[in-house]
Amino acid sequence: MSNVAIIGAQWGDEGKGKVVDLFTEDADVVVRFQGGNNAGHTLVVDGRKTVLHLIPSGALHPKKLCVIANGVVVDVAVLLEEIASLKENGCLLDDSLLRISEQAHLIMPYHKAIDLARERLRGKGKIGTTGRGIGPAYEDKVARIGIRFVDLLEEETFEAKLRYNIEEKNIYLKAILKEKTLDFAEIHDSYAACREKIRPYITDTGVLLHDLIRAGKRVLFEGAQGTLLDVDHGTYPYVTSSSTVTGGALSGCGVGPQHIGEVIGICKAYATRVGSGPFPSEIFGGDGETLKREGVEFGATTGRPRRCGWFDAVGVRHAVRVNGITGLALTKLDVLSGFKTIPVCVAYDCDGQTREEFPASSRVMERAKPAFEELPGWNESLTDVRSFRDLPRAAQRYVRRIEEIVGTEIILVSVGPGREQTVLLRNPFGDRK
Ligand code: GDP
Ligand code: IMO
Ligand code: MG
Repeated sequence: MSNVAIIGAQWGDEGKGKVVDLFTEDADVVVRFQGGNNAGHTLVVDGRKTVLHLIPSGALHPKKLCVIANGVVVDVAVLLEEIASLKENGCLLDDSLLRISEQAHLIMPYHKAIDLARERLRGKGKIGTTGRGIGPAYEDKVARIGIRFVDLLEEETFEAKLRYNIEEKNIYLKAILKEKTLDFAEIHDSYAACREKIRPYITDTGVLLHDLIRAGKRVLFEGAQGTLLDVDHGTYPYVTSSSTVTGGALSGCGVGPQHIGEVIGICKAYATRVGSGPFPSEIFGGDGETLKREGVEFGATTGRPRRCGWFDAVGVRHAVRVNGITGLALTKLDVLSGFKTIPVCVAYDCDGQTREEFPASSRVMERAKPAFEELPGWNESLTDVRSFRDLPRAAQRYVRRIEEIVGTEIILVSVGPGREQTVLLRNPFGDRK
């Protein structure tokens, strides 16, 4: 079995982009299956940084096929900008290297307006969304009034669907959210102007992926966000609106479970979270500031500072279970250099009760206190290390102890943002091509 899924095992920003870019070498196709431009995936190749929001993180490799599958929600303006910027940098020069599902839903201007207005109204209780219209776009998909690429390509269908939605959304925007209404003609014309630019990329990606898999091509499924932000399995309601787990890759691409051989969970050697919501191992001040500074923990999409905390094994064990993770990639180990000891959260104390499973109740989760195990730290810089035996003994022990606590093999350790700053212990694709 030669296809691999890359899934965030924490609250997003684990370094999925870096790992996908690295394993693209061994793949033929890279496919995004959920989320939208709430994602920000950073790749650093030859010292040069690229942040991708929609296009799969395989795009810097010449000749690899990038697919945006049916489960993604797409802001067309952001997509066109990202295509243009990649082309300017000498990537995606051949249009046939990007395929977009005709069934993927569009993020419309009213989705963004609703997302932002609701967050304003929620005040202190806000979710801290990225403001990209993700939630409202998925709501319309499930409400069966969403607009898909296939609808955009049919002039009459698009007009009718847009008219219905604008009428409905304007009532909601005005009466409930006390916002300005939106103009049908303006939105209609701006989308009509994109229609022919986008047409060459649109296809039935389900059939395409099926044919490629049958032909023995290797597919890398690229998750966005993370398991603890999953709409079913995360810290609801402080989550995103899509299925970020392995199951989401199946429905988000239209492939069967037998086509995913390995599921690689990506986690930082500590933990971060952007936006609101419970975060039991969060550190306030002191070491938290050090992690933020050394790890440059600022959002790749919104630039917001990320909240920092220690590694939370309760959350990662939960991710291993709900995704069927077969191997973990531990990123940003270099950021932990310089701590005398490093706490790892092994369980939660919930009102005097020890819990090793992730609680569903947000009330319980908000009051959960971390139970820590302290591991010895190290002072050496790790950024030039390329093999496990060259890691300081304490760093090796840290990796091995996390493996034990989580109960899952670590197949990769990342020691810097660069593609080459990697210690690979096992390649999930098997031998290199
Ligand atoms: P993603 O959303 O999961 O792709 O992660 P982001 O790109 O949002 O955030 C990860 C950040 O950490 C990016 O700035 C990466 O360049 C950087 N990064 C990834 N791996 C490492 C690592 O091992 N060490 C360090 N110092 N930075 C890393
Ligand atoms: P990548 O793919 C980190 C968070 C937001 C907010 C919540 C809901 O780069 O890991 P949304 O806009 O999705 O409705 O926001 O989810 N969030 C992310 N946090 N990384 C991401 O993506 C995220 N995408 C959404 O901060 O808390
Ligand atoms: Mg990110």
